[in-house]
Amino acid sequence: MRRLPPQTPLAYLIGDILSTTLLVKTNIEKVEERMRAQADERHTDLRAAFENLLAAGGKRVRPRLVLLVGDMLGADSERLITLAAAIEMLHTATLVHDDLIDGSLMRRGNATINANWSPAATVLTGDFVFARAAKLAAQTGSLTVMEAFAETLAIMVNGELTQMFDARGLANRENYYERIYAKTGSLFELSTHGAAIISPVDAKTVENSRNFGRELGTAFQIVDDILDFTGDQAAVGKPVGSDLLQGLITLPALYYIEANPNDEKVKSLLNGNYHNSKEIAALVEDIRNSDAIQLALDEAKEYANRALQSLNGHPPSEERHALEKLTQYVTNRNV
Ligand code: IPE
Ligand code: IPE
Ligand code: MG
Ligand code: MG
Repeated sequence: MRRLPPQTPLAYLIGDILSTTLLVKTNIEKVEERMRAQADERHTDLRAAFENLLAAGGKRVRPRLVLLVGDMLGADSERLITLAAAIEMLHTATLVHDDLIDGSLMRRGNATINANWSPAATVLTGDFVFARAAKLAAQTGSLTVMEAFAETLAIMVNGELTQMFDARGLANRENYYERIYAKTGSLFELSTHGAAIISPVDAKTVENSRNFGRELGTAFQIVDDILDFTGDQAAVGKPVGSDLLQGLITLPALYYIEANPNDEKVKSLLNGNYHNSKEIAALVEDIRNSDAIQLALDEAKEYANRALQSLNGHPPSEERHALEKLTQYVTNRNV
């Protein structure tokens, strides 16, 4: 029961996103190495689970952001690698717990830990990854970073709980934006804010960097919510079409609901009948074929443009150019 199958890395780490950190000073491979060095020697099953988690890859968007922003602002490379590894590790830990909470059996194209292990073993594995993430965050040597790290985790946990208890069947934009800040905006914000904190820059630049991450993270999550309607599961590497089935009303659904308040399936959803999977599957299909998708994408692009504006104060550099490419990737991606 404890044995885990071998993992196959997704083939999506090619093209635009990869090129954004190929050219810059601090390379993502060093972050990968730093993460692998956090495995535990004492327990072989835990070690195997940890190594499988890392081997499955992921787009590594957050550590790329850390490296690019930090290189642009003149941070020390070793500290940047440590921070990037801490943040990707925190992200990985939240996914281990999230997949257990959501009952998801696939992540990054591979079986999740909870697909093979009991909830108890899954929770503990996630905890171990959290612990290693916190250790790395402490190794940046910045108390301000450590404090921001802990605060971000609190925001994310709070968001998961709010979503679980208060958000099912709720069609409310303000609530939607609070949820996506908690789940994604906050960690993107930590990536760019943390990189600026350990750089030799003034408070205004720290604030601009922080805004950049928050706006970009918001765009990233809106696109993630669109992909839940339009994405190809094999390419995305995780289950799609599942938000509405869990009663989670995201931006494409909000646009559709606004435009079709008298639609019977919409009324039924708002009355809490999201467990009717046949009806919800038909509604997902209607939303997918409606202009709600484009409207949501336009809104994501507004956030991406605002993110780009926060870069305006910086002189042209290879890193700034790469950050612009990464921002473009976020709204053009299909995985
Ligand atoms: C997935 O994040 C969870 C969300 C917050 C949407 P990513 O899309 O960055 O996942 P990986 O790291 O590439 O697997
Ligand atoms: C993402 O939540 C995980 C966290 C940041 C806690 P979701 O459940 O919305 O994302 P996916 O679809 O599993 O990646
Ligand atoms: Mg999930
Ligand atoms: Mg979830």
